[in-house]
Amino acid sequence: MRHSILSNFSRFFYTISSLKPFKSRTLSRRLSPVLGPSPYRSFSQTSTMFKVGDDFEKIQASRPDFKHDVPVTFSKPPKPDWKEGDGANDGGESLKKNHVEIDPHEDGRPVTSNYKLLISGMVPRPIALISTRSKDGKTTNLAPFSYSQVINHDPPLFVVGFVGSLEKAKDTLKNLAETEECVINIISEHFVEAANATAINTPYGVSEWDVSGLTQAPSSVVQAARVKESIMSVEGKLVETKEFESRTTPGKKTGVLAIIEGVRFWVRDDAINEEKSIVDLKVLKPISRLGGISYGRTTDAIEIPRPQF
Ligand SMILES: Cc1cc2nc3c(=O)[nH]c(=O)nc-3n(C[C@H](O)[C@H](O)[C@H](O)COP(=O)(O)O)c2cc1C
Repeated sequence: MRHSILSNFSRFFYTISSLKPFKSRTLSRRLSPVLGPSPYRSFSQTSTMFKVGDDFEKIQASRPDFKHDVPVTFSKPPKPDWKEGDGANDGGESLKKNHVEIDPHEDGRPVTSNYKLLISGMVPRPIALISTRSKDGKTTNLAPFSYSQVINHDPPLFVVGFVGSLEKAKDTLKNLAETEECVINIISEHFVEAANATAINTPYGVSEWDVSGLTQAPSSVVQAARVKESIMSVEGKLVETKEFESRTTPGKKTGVLAIIEGVRFWVRDDAINEEKSIVDLKVLKPISRLGGISYGRTTDAIEIPRPQF
């Protein structure tokens, strides 16, 4: 049983090369003036992390069309008459199941297994679509990061986790570390494909704005542009970075945490209330990151009052 769930799931991991025919027509045309005729030669070889069977395109084609305009609906919670001490609402079903213990560093376990496990289990995650500029102001960058979260509101603080080191930083981190500025844009349903396209690993200095077709809007406090299509954006200043070392390859720096303070918020006028305090979920239609190459929508909600002692 477990095996079949896992093998079904693994079909949703795919090699980026499997999308090559699609991307090479669209994205490479936009990038060819900068990179030459075959920018996807190196792109397609870069990642074996996202594997899916050769039949992915067939599976995708067999799925129902995306339902636009799905309303956000509120239902009752699973057990509306839940009382203090009642525990789970499944009548004890979950207590009949067993758990598998996993040591993240057990012998022979590849780090990619931890990656796949964490991104599929810690879900849904908000995605920060981060816009930055180079220190000399000559180049712009846009890329998505789902190791991201708001962690405080006074001051407004956000965290973003970058895979890799400061020395070999992803373009976003390099710009963020050098300029100490960025814009965090929230991804909505109406530009999910464009946002996904910005994950392309273009060389430093090649902008993902063109690849995505998204639109730059001026920011107030920072140099980097906002994504105009975003319902909500946050101009941010870097507070600090902290670099982490690999457990499997001691001495190798493999992760960087960036703490960013929000210094200006932007919310589309049809999504914000009069007090400028609540963003309307029905307008925001946020996209979250799930495991593998899956994204989530938020269309079902429940409300449960907060308990008081
Ligand atoms: C939805 C999504 C979420 C991602 N989240 C992260 C993340 O949290 N951390 C990270 O290092 N890379 C993440 N990536 C990969 C980066 O977006 C990718 O490496 C990108 O090329 C980085 O761009 P840059 O070099 O221009 O900064 C994510 C990719 C996607 C599609």
